Amino acid sequence: MKKIIVAIDGHSSCGKSTMAKDLARYAHYVYVDTGAMYRAVTLYALRRGLFAADGSVDRARLEAALPGLRVDFLTDAVTGLPQVCLDGENVERQIRGLEVSSHVSPVAALPAVREALTRQQQLMGQRKGIVMDGRDIGTVVFPEAELKVFVTATPEVRARRRYEELLAKGQPAAYEDILRNVQERDYIDSHRAVAPLRQAPDALVLDNSALTLEQQRQWLIDRFEERVAGS
Ligand code: DC
Repeated sequence: MKKIIVAIDGHSSCGKSTMAKDLARYAHYVYVDTGAMYRAVTLYALRRGLFAADGSVDRARLEAALPGLRVDFLTDAVTGLPQVCLDGENVERQIRGLEVSSHVSPVAALPAVREALTRQQQLMGQRKGIVMDGRDIGTVVFPEAELKVFVTATPEVRARRRYEELLAKGQPAAYEDILRNVQERDYIDSHRAVAPLRQAPDALVLDNSALTLEQQRQWLIDRFEERVAGS
């Protein structure tokens, strides 16, 4: 059967990665979480002390480090899920905390960072059979993707989900802080000069505020089957 590229974009914490992972498992496709790649670069910058007190990043030093920086994925032997690695170290857990979340937007706005990661993402999709989630997958990384989905939900629903996710992982945080972070990231992601978050004209929109996980999972599988049958 012909393999396709599935691009899943949308706001932060709206369940994109859960949907994308489910579809990849269903279709036996590779799953790539591009947010994890931006987060890994942010973790690198935090560890190297590249952020000023006002939250801005030392652009020159980060750009100079980029060519030697390795961000890739290994597959967890137990769950079968990809784990992001920074220079060979599995940093999946470290990149999910509020510290990385609150520093990632300025890093993701740097053209040199976007160019380097976009190039790598395009290589990952060369053989198709891939489900990639992010902000610019259907618009910049794979404008030719056969199936594009733009996912959204209200900020409050998304903050509540992130809050519960962190709690379940034993990393409690205040709901109000998370809501503020979600709103700030929406603003920055949609207003940055390079590859801003926007809906591709040919994307299907899914507002999942009132959907169960099972409903959204089925919705995506149905769209996928339609596309594969039609391609
Ligand atoms: O999906 P996420 O919350 O893990 O993404 C982390 C950050 O990375 C988010 O602020 C937006 C940015 N990002 C991006 O600019 N482009 C992508 N393709 C994926 C994520």
